[in-house]
Amino acid sequence: MNNLINKLPKAELHMHVEGSLEPELMFKLAKRNGIELPYTSVDELKAKYDFNNLQEFLDIYYQGCDVLRTEQDFYDLAWAYLEKAKQDNIVHTEIFFDPQSHTDRGIPFETAINGLYRAFDDGQQKLGISFHIIACFLRHLPEQDAIDLYPDILKHQDKILGIGLDSSEIGHPPEKYERVFAQARTDGFKLVAHAGEEGPAEYVKQAIDLLQVDRIDHGNRCLDDDILTAQIAKAGLALTVCPLSNLKLKVVPSLKDHPIKSMLKKGLLATINSDDPAYFGGYINDNFQQLADAVGLNDNEIIVLIENSFKASFLPQSIIDIHLETLNSI
Ligand code: ADE
Ligand code: ZN
Repeated sequence: MNNLINKLPKAELHMHVEGSLEPELMFKLAKRNGIELPYTSVDELKAKYDFNNLQEFLDIYYQGCDVLRTEQDFYDLAWAYLEKAKQDNIVHTEIFFDPQSHTDRGIPFETAINGLYRAFDDGQQKLGISFHIIACFLRHLPEQDAIDLYPDILKHQDKILGIGLDSSEIGHPPEKYERVFAQARTDGFKLVAHAGEEGPAEYVKQAIDLLQVDRIDHGNRCLDDDILTAQIAKAGLALTVCPLSNLKLKVVPSLKDHPIKSMLKKGLLATINSDDPAYFGGYINDNFQQLADAVGLNDNEIIVLIENSFKASFLPQSIIDIHLETLNSI
């Protein structure tokens, strides 16, 4: 591992906590909750992690969520991620969770948020990792489902900083969520949306113009539109890029073809993130390392990407400045 990648403190801004459910923990929670998994071993499960597109991954990801039943399950899931985050020198994380993937199975909203929050609060105290939680709407479901869920999110605004949009992108443009995002903005939530992962540049444009997002998750396909790319760069709107996810979901044919350098050259505030590390073969440092090896990132580019992770975070500017000063002093 490149020493710089290991040694620099960093922020992670795009990580679905349900996507950090390692197969071993999935089996452990299934046993604890008396659930029979449709796989007989960890190896049989891992063999399914061979995806041709986003939907093939999502089908397995939602199935995996079924083992999460109790507040302790959510705690254990988040704690396992935090231990990996500590190893990778993450000092701040902004994590996603998908409430509807739990409430639609009859798991109360409180069970998920209380378990997650307790783990991240412990992580802050014991591991020194600060955090924000972002609740995502599943875009393949009707907007009305998001509107119905929203009061639960609002009730827990003391624990939830932002609202996101994820799941199957194509056929579910950001415009579908305009009303609920407008309400969330009025209520003071930060807003993010997955856009331009598989979907076209037009979806990135809609996320900016209609949802008025503060950050774009993935955003790769904005590069198809030069004017849009220049606008995003000028506005300093960040992209949370996920290299191993892009590889595993065939957003890029190989890591060598990853557009990260072109993003930086065009002045985009790009950051590196793990997305669903248990499913895509690596946590944040693996994403940095494999990308650096494939496209030949130099030390300066690695430093810029890590600086960007703080600049693009939802931390107060005074705290961002402290992190940037620390990076400068290393
Ligand atoms: N949910 C979890 N990971 C996702 C991804 N990469 N894209 C869209 N929805 C997701
Ligand atoms: Zn994602």
